[in-house]
Amino acid sequence: MISAVGADLLEVKDARVEFGVQGGAVRALDGVSLTVNSGEIVAVVGESGCGKTTLARAVLGLQPLTAGSISIKGREVAGTSRGMAETIGMVWQDPYASLNPRWTVGRSVLEPLSLMGRQGDAREIFSEVGLDPNFVNRFPHQLSGGQRQRVAIGRALSLKPPLVICDEPTAALDLSIRAQILNLLKDVQKANNCSFLYISHDLTTVRFLADRVAVMYFGRIVEEGPTEDIFTNPRHPYTAALLESAPTLDRLMHLPEATKGEIPDPRSHFVGCRFAGRCPGVTSECREVDPGPTRENNVRFFCHHPVKTS
Ligand SMILES: Nc1ncnc2c1ncn2[C@@H]1O[C@H](COP(=O)(O)OP(=O)(O)O)[C@@H](O)[C@H]1O
Ligand SMILES: [Mg+2]
Repeated sequence: MISAVGADLLEVKDARVEFGVQGGAVRALDGVSLTVNSGEIVAVVGESGCGKTTLARAVLGLQPLTAGSISIKGREVAGTSRGMAETIGMVWQDPYASLNPRWTVGRSVLEPLSLMGRQGDAREIFSEVGLDPNFVNRFPHQLSGGQRQRVAIGRALSLKPPLVICDEPTAALDLSIRAQILNLLKDVQKANNCSFLYISHDLTTVRFLADRVAVMYFGRIVEEGPTEDIFTNPRHPYTAALLESAPTLDRLMHLPEATKGEIPDPRSHFVGCRFAGRCPGVTSECREVDPGPTRENNVRFFCHHPVKTS
């Protein structure tokens, strides 16, 4: 699974982003390395504030790196450029905020094409994302949340980019329509054979969708591997805690056992393992030495005392 067909599409190498804030600096990305191969769906999962959106913005070229590099098809991402629209489609969490309220949704869906000086058929795009083609003349406020997200997905795919980034695309939607949007994402990925970088705090959806999962904790990927390995045989205690708290990460915050201990201040510069303060299996080594990567088959994790293989 890990060596999917084709060369790596996206390569993030030791990416670092620091934000200067009062009382220090937040390391939103603290050495993130990740690859996405063509045709692959890679999910990035982690609690709010762990750096997921910062990673998406960095891949889009909207967020400069403090260190490290990001390349797409071997070309380094640096600053925003029009060319990027042809390479990456973006679906944000809130479709209402990402659609111009004064434009018909038909115009919005064609915007990327017209920016590239190209023609397109909004009605055709609407059918592809399961919308009534007659909706092209409507305005965003005349559609439901799920329909607006379909418009946003149609727009992200309009240039047929090889990579689509979805940043919590169902988080703002009613529970009842989340499954529909997930099915749509799965269908359009198959139909276009593009890659997805799918960002979520919801493990359940990730299992349904992703080929590979990367678990993020305070600016760092702590475990990454094929979806089935991560779900059936988690090696990092944080991944294990997330699985126990499924289906939602909100419940993790209230778990008494696995998450005992302090949640670190995001401004702290970690000495040792960043999960040490919450880990049930912490030792003095964990508090002193930042664990390096361990590879086991196709899984990579950062932990001195991994969860025992089942
Ligand atoms: N522009 C910014 N200025 C200062 N801090 C920021 C900025 N953007 C994000 N952060 C901080 O960086 C960390 C990661 O944020 P973010 O990438 O939005 O996380 P997520 O998307 O996983 O919730 C958080 O601690 C957040 O407060
Ligand atoms: Mg976010």
